[in-house]
Amino acid sequence: MSPLQDSYARVIDYLRISVTDKCNLRCIYCMPSDGIAPVRHSDILSYEEIIRVAAVAVRLGVRKIRLTGGEPLVRKNLAFLISSLRAIPGIDDLSLTTNGILLGQHARTLADAGLDRVNVSIDSLRPDRYREITRGGDLEAVLRGVQAAEKAGLKPLKINMVPMRGLNEDEILDFARITIDTDRHVRFIECMPVGSINFWDAGKYVNTDEIRRIIETLGSLSPVRMRKNGPSKYYRIHRAKGVLGFISALSHHYCGDCNRLRLTADGKLRPCLFSETEIDIRSAIRAGAADDEIERLLRLSIEVKPKGHTLGNSLPLSGSEQLASHAVKRYMSRIGG
Ligand code: 5AD
Ligand code: SF4
Repeated sequence: MSPLQDSYARVIDYLRISVTDKCNLRCIYCMPSDGIAPVRHSDILSYEEIIRVAAVAVRLGVRKIRLTGGEPLVRKNLAFLISSLRAIPGIDDLSLTTNGILLGQHARTLADAGLDRVNVSIDSLRPDRYREITRGGDLEAVLRGVQAAEKAGLKPLKINMVPMRGLNEDEILDFARITIDTDRHVRFIECMPVGSINFWDAGKYVNTDEIRRIIETLGSLSPVRMRKNGPSKYYRIHRAKGVLGFISALSHHYCGDCNRLRLTADGKLRPCLFSETEIDIRSAIRAGAADDEIERLLRLSIEVKPKGHTLGNSLPLSGSEQLASHAVKRYMSRIGG
């Protein structure tokens, strides 16, 4: 079958599935300190429902699946979902985004179930600061998780870092240096006005050009071509083992390279992170939809995928006001990043 294309000729081959909106951390940019009311359990897609949607999506041309949250490892028996997805012929890449807190416990089981690799979110390498940014997280547990994941063969291991001025931007070089001696990938993600709506402001935002300039003090960066890299741009510091990535949601429009579709934990197809448009696939499934109907809804969500977002259009940003009106209303833990 020819690959799935949206209205702007983008090939859609990547599905991100949020398996839970719950999380064992409360990162300041993602959640309010007292958390958010969890979605009712009965409103969360069952593993069987997720597997059905995934199987139809793969039939339509999806080749890459990522499980996200909230924190996916807080959902029970995730290995069952992973082995069931692995059993669908046609998935070349099955990965997971995690905060790493429970990774030490689960890495081996996840690898045995057929997971290919993990991305671990770490915003500081200093235990006190990590605890502050995540409101209580234990960095040691995460670092043990990273090692366990590598030992279990979940590679390449990618670390996601969100630089924020006044909070952790002085650690950009420490993160970049990780790639010199290890084959870990480190990806810098621009802080987006998603999630804790009152958190984002132009003062905390650090754009990719600035991050790059800081890293270039370590040596020049050469572009690295990666297979299926979607919106991230990859580079290598001269002679480094690992790779650096930049995800510049606001400063550089990467919508033209967007290859993804999202399935939220409560069963909505979300064509674009920055658009409120959602298609309710859960109701269809629970009303007894056949696979053809699931296929129609998947195709529909690809058809309505917007050309791009306009969030960063008025950069340099004059303040948080202009963004507040555009800020994404659904919490990131309910979209899955
Ligand atoms: N801006 C940028 N990145 C975010 N993430 C969660 N919320 C935001 C935000 N507002 C990141 C997490 C994780 C990934 C899934 O999304 O740090 O690495
Ligand atoms: Fe949890 Fe990830 Fe949100 Fe942090 S960013 S609170 S780890 S879902």
